[in-house]
Amino acid sequence: MIEIAPSILSADFSNLADEIKKCEKAGVKILHIDIMDGHFVPNITIGPVVVESLRKKTKMILDTHLMITDPEKYIEPFAKAGSDWLTFHIEAVKKPSALIKKIKSLKLKAGISLNPATPVSKLSKYLNELDLVLVMSVNPGFGGQGFIPSALKKISELKKLTKNQNVKISVDGGINFDTISGAVKAGSDIIVAGNSVFRSGLSIAKSIKKLRLRIEKHE
Ligand code: DX5
Ligand code: ZN
Repeated sequence: MIEIAPSILSADFSNLADEIKKCEKAGVKILHIDIMDGHFVPNITIGPVVVESLRKKTKMILDTHLMITDPEKYIEPFAKAGSDWLTFHIEAVKKPSALIKKIKSLKLKAGISLNPATPVSKLSKYLNELDLVLVMSVNPGFGGQGFIPSALKKISELKKLTKNQNVKISVDGGINFDTISGAVKAGSDIIVAGNSVFRSGLSIAKSIKKLRLRIEKHE
């Protein structure tokens, strides 16, 4: 079953509790949280305090995407704040295995993300240690950017490589009512969607329903 993970980056931050309740009511199981440090990416977002507040408001899986340098310093704070999944960027670390182990030792699911310019070969040797691979289909930093089609090839490649493994493949960036079909056909298990959930012009419930219908059509 393919899941939609709304990215709160595009939500109304002055009304976050309400926005995520609407997602939960629409049957969402995974909430995607973008952590940016103004260093690994040019933008700054939120830290563990906000995750801690969200944790009190929802039982959804908190899928935490660390777009930060030195992610090793922040594994424990995010684990304590209540994150369920922690994904770091392979471009930001020298020893991915050590970080995966640390995340797992805290009983969280571990993921690695790949920037659009980073090939799958950079992480293939870690696949058997991972729970999740997050394929970026935009350059990380901002919501609402256009989908980069070369991500599709990487998703299919990863799908083949993980055939007998329990690794979820997630796609992140530029997913809308049109681009979602390619991401589904390529083999994504999780579809991260920011603007197309929170800023589509439709209600959150209707946006999610429309995305789901597209998934069903192409599964
Ligand atoms: C980009 C973030 C994405 C982003 C997705 O750096 O990692 O999660 O918020 O937003 P949309 O779906 O609007 O591209
Ligand atoms: Zn993200």
